[in-house]
Parts: sequence; C-alpha cells; structure tokens
Amino acid sequence: MLQKDYPLLSKKINNKNLIYFDSSCTYLKNINTINEVNRYYTDYSCCSGDRESSYLWALLQEEIDNTRAQCSKFIWAQKNDFIVFTSWTTDSINRLIFSIDESKIKNIITSDLEHNSNYLPQFEYSKIKNINFVCFKYKDILNLDILETKLEKITGWFLLCFTHCSNIIWSNFDLQWISELVHKYWWYILVDDAQFISHNRENVVLNNIDFLAFSAHKIWWPTWIWVLYIKYWSENIIKYSSKIWWGTIININNEKVEYKKLPYFLEWWVQNFWWILWLKWCINYYNEISYEKINTHINILVKYFWNKFYENNLDNYFEILSLDNSLIITLKPKNFNVIDFHWYCNYFLDEYIISFRTWTMCADNYVNNYLNWDKNIMRLSFWVYNTTEEIDVLIISILKYIRDI
Ligand SMILES: Cc1ncc(COP(=O)(O)O)c(C=O)c1O
Repeated sequence: MLQKDYPLLSKKINNKNLIYFDSSCTYLKNINTINEVNRYYTDYSCCSGDRESSYLWALLQEEIDNTRAQCSKFIWAQKNDFIVFTSWTTDSINRLIFSIDESKIKNIITSDLEHNSNYLPQFEYSKIKNINFVCFKYKDILNLDILETKLEKITGWFLLCFTHCSNIIWSNFDLQWISELVHKYWWYILVDDAQFISHNRENVVLNNIDFLAFSAHKIWWPTWIWVLYIKYWSENIIKYSSKIWWGTIININNEKVEYKKLPYFLEWWVQNFWWILWLKWCINYYNEISYEKINTHINILVKYFWNKFYENNLDNYFEILSLDNSLIITLKPKNFNVIDFHWYCNYFLDEYIISFRTWTMCADNYVNNYLNWDKNIMRLSFWVYNTTEEIDVLIISILKYIRDI
C-alpha cells in the first residue's frame, strides 16, 4: 500500500533496501510533501501576514488562513483562531505552560507515562513558580474512581497534563470521562496528542479539551510544523510568557505592550510557510484515505507480527511491554543487548537495513519508574508503507541473530 509514494523506500542505501519500522518517531515523507517544498519556494519564497501590503504576502496569508480553517475542522475546533502553528509538540507545551498565570494555577498534575516533551516543561515550570507538582501513576488515571479520589485531595486549581496515548506502551485513557471529572470544578486539561492523533481523529469538543498539542509529522505531515489548540484565552489562565517574551503586537510604548489576540499572539516569527501550506493538502489526503483504512492496514500487520512471534516461540526471548490492544510493539530482549541487535539489522544483513527504535523512547520517567532505568528495549511501529513481507524479514533476522549469538 502506497510504498511507491515514498522515495526513500525505492532508493538503495548502501546497496540495500530500507525497512522502516520507526514511524512512531516520525513518518517517512511522501513525494507530495517533497514537491510542496518546491512549490513554496517557487511560488512565494516570502513572508506573510498583515505587516506588509504586498500581493504575494496576501496570497500566502490566504493559503495559511485556509489551512488554519482546515486544521480547525480536522480536530472539530470551535473557532479557527484557536489553532496556533508552532514548531514542535514540545514547543507548544512549553509556550503554553510558560504562559500560564501562576496566580490561577496551584497544582500541575501529570502521569509517569509522559513523553519528556510534556513532562519537562511542567516539572521545570512548577519549580520556578513554586507550583505544587504532582505525578500520578498512569494506572490511576486509567481508573476513574481512583482518579476522582486523588483529585478530590488536591486543593486549589490545577492543570492536568497527560498523554492521550503513550508512545511506549500505548494506553486507553477515556478522555471524555476524565475531562468531565476535571471540569466539574473548572479545572483545566492539557492533552498531549502527538501519538494518539496518528491513529485516531481527535474531537476537542466532544472530549472537552482545553489545550491540545500535536505534531504534524506524526500523521506523515512534514516536520517542523505543529499545532497547539487553545480553547480559552487570557481571561482564563493564559497571561504572559514568564520565560520568553513573544507575540505579534498592536501597540507598544515605554509603559506597555499590547499584543494581538490568538492565534497571532503566539505566532511571531517568519514561519515555516511551506509546512503550513502542506498541512492543508495532508488533511485532505488523510480524510480521503481515512483513519479506518490506515488502522485496518496496521492492525493486519500487528496481528501478522504476533502470529509469527508466537509461531517461532519468540516469547522465550522477549518480554512484552506494550499493552494488549497496542498498535505499537515494544519488547524487552531477555538475554541480548538491543543495540547490538539493531547494529546487526543495520550493518550485517545482506539485502536490508531494518530501522526501528531502541534504547530511549523519550519517555524516561516510564523507564525510570517501571524498568529501573534499564533501557534495553525496542519499539516497532508500522505504517501504511509497511508490508507483511517486511515483517518476515525482521522475524528471520531475529531468529538468525539469536541462533548466532
Ligand atoms: C506522546 C508524545 N508526546 C510528545 C512527542 C514529542 O513530539 P515533538 O518531537 O513533535 O515535540 C512525541 C514524539 O514522538 C510523542 O510520541
């Protein structure tokens, strides 16, 4: 399915074919993404916005506003202006956390399953601002009764920040219920959707999300453009940035600065315009192919993998870390070093280079809490361009490696 659209898959690398099982890190880029880079530089090559009155700026701005509208529709946002284009999920979360009015938030609560990109800004900001930082076990967030008991013990307003889907073990948070619980007392919820959005269409209204961050590159969109959705604005908890000062402004004098409203307040630089233009095309493409078809394909691959895994008794050699219904496969070799094995797959196979994720998955708090800092783990993540034949190559390579060591 679609392999021909991905130039890297038809290219020989060191005279070998690439098998790419690291899509949960980032997806390979298809030919249309690559062409769109040229389109931006050929057709525009300029900046955009209302700081200038040039024809090209206006044309580009129109395309960007269309993309914002489409992006807003994609996650069912109530207003296009709630969509801010940033540079990473990490950047979105940092901008948001460091813009919080600390007089409104007494507690920041997170889980021990978080990607560092979500965990670190919360942890550091809480320390700087003397805000109470609480880290729940992720299983306590999965269980609503436990979550409610724990939340009841927290005094003062809080922001609950957690990942909708873990990029290591997967997870099945019932966001609608969690959100209802949080909003019972007008508390806030920040959702890291970077992994979730790869496999599910998000609905920010249904799930009543206050703040949502996701990365375009996790839905095979280009790198360097990310989306931050903000439901509330300054009248609630966003006040100013306490770390970096930014924003497109309306007015400035020696006494005060008046910033533009969302989304321009948080977008201030000469952006990666072609990435934004490209988003529009990607959303259409995604809608056309549909999550259903993508997930059906990945499900076939995951099932195929597990059949082969058990058929070959590989459970003797690996502990399984990912949860039962996971579309990501995370394994812990029992008696060999995963880096050595990855090297074997990258340098010592005759016809292929197999790329997957080893060692750190960027959610180090999980590794600390549940694996005692043992990073001997590997993650396989499949996407539309992967095939069952590629899984056969991997299984044969594992068997050969185990036999040889
Ligand atoms: C759950 C989760 N959160 C955050 C991130 C970080 O995203 P970015 O690299 O776009 O900042 C990732 C990336 O893999 C992720 O899977």
